Amino acid sequence: MNADAEPYLQINGQRRLVGELRVNGAKNAALPCLAAALLSDDASRLRRVPHIEDVHRFLDILTILGVESEFTDDEINIRPSGVCGGAPPDDLAAALRASFLVMGPLLARTGQASCGAPGGDVIGARPLDVHLAGFQALGASVESIGGRTIAHAPNGLRGATIVLDYPSVLGTENLLLASVLASGRTRIVNAAMEPEIVCLAEMLNSMGGRISHAGHNTITIDGVERLVGADHELIPDRIEAGTLLIAAAATRGQICLRGVEPVHLESLLAKFREVGVSIRRSDDELELSLDSATSLRATNVQALPYPGFATDLQAPITALLTQAEGTSIVHERVFENRMQHLDELRKFGANIIAGGSVSAINGPVRLSGAVVRGTDIRATAALIVAALAADGESRAYGIRHLARGYADLPGQLRTLGADIEQVPRLDTLTN
Ligand code: UD1
Repeated sequence: MNADAEPYLQINGQRRLVGELRVNGAKNAALPCLAAALLSDDASRLRRVPHIEDVHRFLDILTILGVESEFTDDEINIRPSGVCGGAPPDDLAAALRASFLVMGPLLARTGQASCGAPGGDVIGARPLDVHLAGFQALGASVESIGGRTIAHAPNGLRGATIVLDYPSVLGTENLLLASVLASGRTRIVNAAMEPEIVCLAEMLNSMGGRISHAGHNTITIDGVERLVGADHELIPDRIEAGTLLIAAAATRGQICLRGVEPVHLESLLAKFREVGVSIRRSDDELELSLDSATSLRATNVQALPYPGFATDLQAPITALLTQAEGTSIVHERVFENRMQHLDELRKFGANIIAGGSVSAINGPVRLSGAVVRGTDIRATAALIVAALAADGESRAYGIRHLARGYADLPGQLRTLGADIEQVPRLDTLTN
């Protein structure tokens, strides 16, 4: 894209973040829960839904499948009575990874489903084998033709024990969505344990599903014949909360996040303790308080499936660790190509040596404003964290990625005192 026509974020760094705000509902819970609404003829209501691009694109897909929806404030009302099959058009499938979540519900309800290659962040190969092997175990035939997946189960799905090769988040969700209406009992072994899986299972159970042990590594699903509509509130977005806390730490700020689930953030809070960031927690609040003289300590981070350290916070915490005393080692163990932010962080002056999926961050370094480009949702967030800590003015391009996953991160940061503005036009500064 021509950078001259492209909007960017202009950030003047070294403003201490101070204040409080309530976090939005979780992006990664919204998408599977929207897919779950396809499983009933009844209307469903989702509450605390973030206004992010991926949600809007998923609603576009639902419209094409014959589902009416209304998104007002932070609620979506969904009326799926017209669902008779169909498939997401290829461009919408390619707009987000979670487009593939229509496969499970459509297969369960209509005996057939198809979807073009799902898109999303380019952070690794992101195969679909876990989803496809699971559909096959439930009795579906599956073929891939020119990047399109087509699945058939004309006699319906039947419960089975499915052992996942990897605890894929969307894979686990797709299999929950498919098996909840299958005949008999399904066991998903080596299931993903993310809080978003539990949120989806709770919604499905409120619709009449019989799912137990979601959040554990083996989930049991006793199939039911039909589901009713749901009225379901999404969990708070732990990645949004984590990003804001990391940004506050990078500016030695003092912020209070309301409406959070601290237990979903244990792995980040443990790293904060090691780094020297003190956090006060209550049932649904996290308060971070640092003074400007606090020096941070280096630590090591391994990004892993939940309850390990979230891969979605790997890039943001790397930006923070440039401010810590000593050498931090960050190892990305979920996606094989999720280090694209490192070259951009170096433009601020960060001292990072990297090989493969491991980086060594030497700090503390006084960062200076830079012109940078985010390549995916969380990489862009990491560049914002660096820009907030940096001395002087920065410009961050690639903000369309940000809008896919954060409801309004720049607005939230502004509320906390950051000097950050979206600029529609580039003026004289060159990249
Ligand atoms: C979800 C999240 C994303 C997060 C990721 C890991 C959504 C919409 N997105 O993505 O924000 O970064 O979990 O927490 O919820 N894999 C396979 N075969 C498969 C599927 C995945 O090998 O069939 C591999 C992937 O290549 C990757 C790893 O498993 O290396 C994790 O992927 P997965 O858990 O599926 O991530 P997503 O569900 O796509």
